Amino acid sequence: MGMTQKISVFGTGYLGATHAAGMAELGHEVIGVDIDPAKIDLLSQGKVPFFEPGLPELIVKHVNSGALRFTTDPAEAAEFAGVHFIAVGTPQKRGSYSADMQFVDGLIETLAPMLTRPAVILGKSTVPVGTAARLAARVRELAPVGDDAQLGWNPEFLREGFAVEDTLNPDRLVVGVEKDRPGRVEAVAREVYATILARDTPFIVTDLATAELVKGSANAFLATKISFINAIAEICEATGADVVQLADALGHDDRIGRKFLGAGLGFGGGCLPKDIRAFQARAGELGLGKSLAFLSEVDAVNLRRRSHVVEMATRAVGGSLPGTTIAVLGAAFKPDSDDVRDSPALDVAGELHLGGATVRVYDPQAMRNAAVVQPTLTYADSVEDACRDADLVVVATEWQEFRKADPVALARVVAHPRVIDGRNCLPTQAWVDAGWSYSGMGRHAS
Ligand code: UDX
Repeated sequence: MGMTQKISVFGTGYLGATHAAGMAELGHEVIGVDIDPAKIDLLSQGKVPFFEPGLPELIVKHVNSGALRFTTDPAEAAEFAGVHFIAVGTPQKRGSYSADMQFVDGLIETLAPMLTRPAVILGKSTVPVGTAARLAARVRELAPVGDDAQLGWNPEFLREGFAVEDTLNPDRLVVGVEKDRPGRVEAVAREVYATILARDTPFIVTDLATAELVKGSANAFLATKISFINAIAEICEATGADVVQLADALGHDDRIGRKFLGAGLGFGGGCLPKDIRAFQARAGELGLGKSLAFLSEVDAVNLRRRSHVVEMATRAVGGSLPGTTIAVLGAAFKPDSDDVRDSPALDVAGELHLGGATVRVYDPQAMRNAAVVQPTLTYADSVEDACRDADLVVVATEWQEFRKADPVALARVVAHPRVIDGRNCLPTQAWVDAGWSYSGMGRHAS
């Protein structure tokens, strides 16, 4: 295995906190840095400010072993580490589709002037193509060591809910380097990831722009695949076809594959929606708006799923929402996460509430975050609580707890046994046998 490296990770959100813990697990000495003292406080006590399976255990393990610590002081990290990871956010800019680069840029302006010894900076944040080349030049300009401060791009592909697994066992590692300035970036990345590379994980070294684009393209492809099946679901709905059987049949073609062909409420979260918009915005800046124009359609199909479910719900309760009670099961944008950023589930709950329904939301993990975004909804303590006296149940996030819920018991607590399965995740026959009128997505009602 490789040598122990001294590593800093700037940004301790989903990406940074997981990466910091993962690097400690790979045998390195790690310091996590964030400007938010509350986050640093929690993490230092081994507590994680969001829900991510397996992460608290990993952080506790390495905080206790001394391999992992946290600070708000960038100077401490600059002094300690020779490898610095950028894991700060690149959210959607207010009033625009482009990525807000203030956190990445701000970090470089702070860190680079502190680099008095040779150092390698590896960017992980999702950024518009061209950013890394600009930052590499800026680092050289600002760092006291000059050319010995080198920057590469090492995009991250982790999924929420599988963040630890994806960090320790990635499908591939991609590292972008400045091709016209051979430096230490590739060698340092090989040292950092030695344990993973020893398992023959594909390691792809590219120029900076390619590395940035791999990430943008991966997310654009995944979003397109989901919207593709959701567009087909619209056709299925109009023609009486069944999108689930159709997706199964498509999926047997290994050029297509069954993954990400789950028709339903569509994609949300902190990545796919903003990343496809930023990717498109960047193409526009490059004068290549047409190349990624299809992503507007991908976005539009995706958002249409949410209004479609609101319409289905309105029809199911007799055409008018005021005076009805609707249980919405799920608030997180996907299961095994407490993330409600751009969540289809919470959007639907909010729209039904705006339409005049009494909406009762239950989510196993995301209710605290949901209540911040949608404080006027009612939050229930359990599936059963949410469903009590409901005229309609909408399953909006495919948590295991909902898949396994007992349709017979639930039929007894609701006012009307009607369910909209917004994620095609329920065992249809069992619900129908229990007396429910069932509507899935892209399939005819039963
Ligand atoms: C995604 C990418 O997968 C990851 O590689 C990248 O680094 C960040 O963005 P994540 O946001 O954690 O990760 O979620 P993911 O599991 O990809 O799901 C995205 C959304 O698509 C979720 O809202 C999910 O419910 C939805 N989805 C997924 C579908 O609607 N149908 C599917 O078949 C699959």
